[in-house]
Amino acid sequence: MPSCNTSQGYWATPTFSTNDIPDLTWRVMIVTGSCSAISLVVVALLQHNAKVYMASRSEKKVEVAIKNLKELTGKEALLLQLNLCNVAAIKRSTQEFRRSAAFSLVLLSVGLRHWYFTALLMQALLSGKESSSDGHTRGITTSKTGTQKLYSQSKFLNVVVSHQVAKHYGDQGVIALSCNPGYLKTDLQRHIAGLECKVVVSALTQLWGGLLPELAQHNGEFVIPWVRMGKCRPETYDDVIGEQLWCYLQEQVKNT
Ligand SMILES: NC(=O)c1ccc[n+]([C@@H]2O[C@H](COP(=O)([O-])OP(=O)(O)OC[C@H]3O[C@@H](n4cnc5c(N)ncnc54)[C@H](OP(=O)(O)O)[C@@H]3O)[C@@H](O)[C@H]2O)c1
Repeated sequence: MPSCNTSQGYWATPTFSTNDIPDLTWRVMIVTGSCSAISLVVVALLQHNAKVYMASRSEKKVEVAIKNLKELTGKEALLLQLNLCNVAAIKRSTQEFRRSAAFSLVLLSVGLRHWYFTALLMQALLSGKESSSDGHTRGITTSKTGTQKLYSQSKFLNVVVSHQVAKHYGDQGVIALSCNPGYLKTDLQRHIAGLECKVVVSALTQLWGGLLPELAQHNGEFVIPWVRMGKCRPETYDDVIGEQLWCYLQEQVKNT
């Protein structure tokens, strides 16, 4: 299994394609950062009949994306206005879903305050198990391994949190995986020369982690490009760090 080093940057030929995605009728999903290139996953989800909420800060941006996706797939995604910069705004965005909805997949492609978003939607995620053929609900967090300081710290914490979600909710049927989507020329990487630009293939890694039944055996783990199990830095599996972070996060939102 590739470890946390540059081998994750060398692409293997994917053994999974969108033809392997099962029918997703009755399944409800949320994709954050959904208007960015990396979230081409939405196309495949719609093509396989999922009901997809596209989360973004910008209503206008999502409306354009929804229109384009309708032309491409014949299916209509739904808008979820979401700004992850602020806990009150996250709470407002999840208000209407918390009790009544049943989500079987959240694809977390932004990296900020996803823990709180997921925590608020936990009841809706647990209800989503019913609609999923393998009896599980999933949260897939895009992350990576790396050396840039602040950015990598936030990605590191994403992986730790995902691992802790698996630990705390795994026995209730929640699968939490983190995903290194690969190095991609998206808005985030627009100033870095020479990057690969395989956005479509990157979406496959996220879809594989999010949809295939066999991934349920790898709860808390890390998926890497393209479509492989990998390992993140050893510290992300450290339960002392994980529990400390979990307590810290609970503390931050206890009065919200
Ligand atoms: N690109 C790569 O090579 C690469 C490699 C490894 C990991 N990743 C990870 O993959 C994820 C997506 O990367 P990307 O390259 O697609 O980035 P991107 O092009 O910069 O897109 C990020 C998306 O995040 C959303 N966003 C930013 N701030 C937000 C906020 N406060 N609240 C809600 N949404 C917010 C934006 O959506 P709106 O503007 O619509 O709100 C934007 O579409 C990130 O977590 C990144 O760290 C990327």
